[in-house]
Amino acid sequence: MYSQTILDEIRDRVSIAALVGERIPLKKAGRNFKGNCPFHSEKTPSFMVSDEKQIYHCFGCGEGGNVFNFFMKFDGLTFREAVEMLAARSGVQLPKLETVDKKADDEAERKKKWAFRLNKLVAEYFYNNMLDPKKGEAARNYLKSRDIIFEKITQHFLGYADDSWDGLVRYLESKKAPLDLAAEIGVIKKRESGGYYDFFRHRVVFPVITPALGAAAKPGSIGKVVAFSGRTFGEPKTAEGQEPPAKYLNSPDSPIYHKSYTVYGLNVGADAARRADQVILVEGNLDVMRLHQEGIENVVAPLGTALTSGHVKLLSRYTKNFVVIFDGDDAGYKAAVRALPLFLEAGFVPRVVALPKGEDPDSFVKNKGEEAMRGLVAKAGTLFEFVIDDTVRRFGTATDGKVRVVEELKPYFAMIRNSVEASQYRKRLASKLMLDESVISHSLAGKKQLTRESFVNVVQPNTIEKMLLELLLAYPETIGVARGRIDFEKFTDGSCQAIAKLIFDEFDKSGRVDVANLADGIDDAELKSEVLALALAENKYDDADGAMEKCIAAFDRMSAKRRLKELSFAIQQMASDDDRVSKCMAEIQKLNEEIHNLNKRENIDERTGT
Ligand code: UTP
Ligand code: MN
Repeated sequence: MYSQTILDEIRDRVSIAALVGERIPLKKAGRNFKGNCPFHSEKTPSFMVSDEKQIYHCFGCGEGGNVFNFFMKFDGLTFREAVEMLAARSGVQLPKLETVDKKADDEAERKKKWAFRLNKLVAEYFYNNMLDPKKGEAARNYLKSRDIIFEKITQHFLGYADDSWDGLVRYLESKKAPLDLAAEIGVIKKRESGGYYDFFRHRVVFPVITPALGAAAKPGSIGKVVAFSGRTFGEPKTAEGQEPPAKYLNSPDSPIYHKSYTVYGLNVGADAARRADQVILVEGNLDVMRLHQEGIENVVAPLGTALTSGHVKLLSRYTKNFVVIFDGDDAGYKAAVRALPLFLEAGFVPRVVALPKGEDPDSFVKNKGEEAMRGLVAKAGTLFEFVIDDTVRRFGTATDGKVRVVEELKPYFAMIRNSVEASQYRKRLASKLMLDESVISHSLAGKKQLTRESFVNVVQPNTIEKMLLELLLAYPETIGVARGRIDFEKFTDGSCQAIAKLIFDEFDKSGRVDVANLADGIDDAELKSEVLALALAENKYDDADGAMEKCIAAFDRMSAKRRLKELSFAIQQMASDDDRVSKCMAEIQKLNEEIHNLNKRENIDERTGT
């Protein structure tokens, strides 16, 4: 990839405000620019851009970064494409990167094209079987018994694979289709003795179809078929002494099918999801079918696999609003909890519907109707809250349980990018555990293993620490003064401490702090978002140096007060003849003097509240 020097050169030459301003309207706001965030919908602008620091950040959704990040996100470019585009705009000459193997690429493309043609033939074959008055009768009756009305779901081209073992093979031969390729994409299999046999036998076949693109979509025509999923029905024929066949058989991965990046129902669901600005994820093919049939079309399901980050990524092209519906059983609950980190990684928190025990979406809609289902979706809570509640239920709210709960949830909290959301979930957890929110924040932020003590000691609010960081990042000229007088070890808030350490380390190393670079080097999304937000603290301070002086005094006062608390707590635990008592008393005396002196200094900011 391109070197840091080149990237810095591009970044230094462009104006992030001018470039972002080409995409969305921005207004000057003090030292920064402000506009409505393009990454979430909002009415009051909370999207800030700083030319000086070459960064952007949304205070609403937490999205932020440098100029490359913006175009990757906004224009859907890869990092390389963003670099190349901005290099061209700023006249920076890029070094040549090694070229790809063009011939191998063409070959692979040709193979895929053939594979699509072949799958289309196969889908037509199964579909015609289903329509065949005699051959398809049993399959049609089965659908009828499940209340699937064939006429309402024609866009899915449900088919039937007969049990002749070679129906498809013969059909493909008659069409002069390449059988080796058909075997590679898994619709037929090679016999050891030579020749081929059908992979799907006596099954209802669900073609997996990707959304047709724009003008290429003809009504009533099959889109791009990438794979097949076949369900047994009736009396599956089981040979003597053999396991009964699996309920579902799915195509294997192939050049045109990657199961962790494909969902069933997208041919109908994609458009519906875009229109509704919401996608509903269910577990099974039949759930998709049922909901589509009832007119809820923004529904898809993974195929023969749990939800993956690929599925989330794929669907986030259509909408960022996910609703996951899990079956009302233990497996469904577990799957729900497992899905959370995938979403958090992608930067979303989905909403979740946990169905009543024993129900899946298919049975629920059949029994209670479409309106009831829409009702459940409309009032679904977030998956994060669901996981909080589930974890609290599992570990209980005795002290040990509380410690466990926080330990369990810590990794999830660490993955939330949006600090507003994070605080909302902390509040929920705090109220569930009947603890102060500051205790939760402190425990979640701490790198240390939690102890029972940490739940007894209530920590101070961290307003001053935030304010200090704001000053350091928004007015880097104050770092020099603060460096000599602030001990970052004394920060109580874990993430504030981490940020202070980052700033001071960078300052020690290079004598200055470039926020865009600093933020770029932070892997932790929440921390990065916090740094960007602090750096864009808007015109809060007329006199940054004066504010820093006040802040340092308040910080010292707070540290002293906290130390006082610790000492008086410690003394209470000691026997009166303990020789440590007198030492503690001496330190308390000194701290009281220090606080007195700090108090004497006037004009301590009201906001610091100490
Ligand atoms: P379900 O058993 O819930 O299937 O499995 P379903 O689609 O709701 O079908 P009915 O209602 O029982 O008829 C959910 C999904 O898990 C995969 C399939 O993708 C299925 O749709 N699965 C299930 C398999 O891949 N293989 C299996 O043997 C079973
Ligand atoms: Mn089902």
